[in-house]
Amino acid sequence: MRTLIYPGTFDPLTRGHVDIARRARRLCDRLYVVVLRNANKRPAFDVAERRDMAARCLADLDGCFVEDYDGLLVDYMVERGAVAVVRGLRSESDFRYELEMVAANRLLYESFESILLPSSSALALTSSAIVREVAAYGGDISAMVPDEIQDEVARRLVRPEYRHRLEVRT
Ligand code: PNS
Repeated sequence: MRTLIYPGTFDPLTRGHVDIARRARRLCDRLYVVVLRNANKRPAFDVAERRDMAARCLADLDGCFVEDYDGLLVDYMVERGAVAVVRGLRSESDFRYELEMVAANRLLYESFESILLPSSSALALTSSAIVREVAAYGGDISAMVPDEIQDEVARRLVRPEYRHRLEVRT
């Protein structure tokens, strides 16, 4: 059984994340999508919300399990017996960040391995941060966020003074 892990903050999960998860699933027998803490971020959604939204969006993907974990990625990898982690790569700046994470993780766990999957071009410029910004102004996030969680994300993140823009669309 080859197990891969797809870790992230997923605040919230985007269509780009779903694309990476689906492609990563084809490379292994079991894929764990895990919601972790990033010490540099203060998420808009709490861990349980992010995990539940991700689970809803990936419910139809056999052999894919969504969890959350409060600890080091390398410890989670060992617990799950994973051979590598998968991360999506959108840009050169992502690449630099990923290399830094690989270096840190390898100092913690010498067998650490990472597979970097280039984002599909149409989704390359989506990010959870852009989703949060557009949603705050009541903008249309349907091209960025999976159908299953669009309403929840839009309603949770819209600022009160822009709420009328959601009503216009529904
Ligand atoms: O989606 P993100 O924010 O780029 O994901 C980063 C994440 C959550 C994978 C990373 O911050 C992480 O692995 N957090 C868990 C704690 C840990 O192991 N930190 C050391 C990694 S350098």
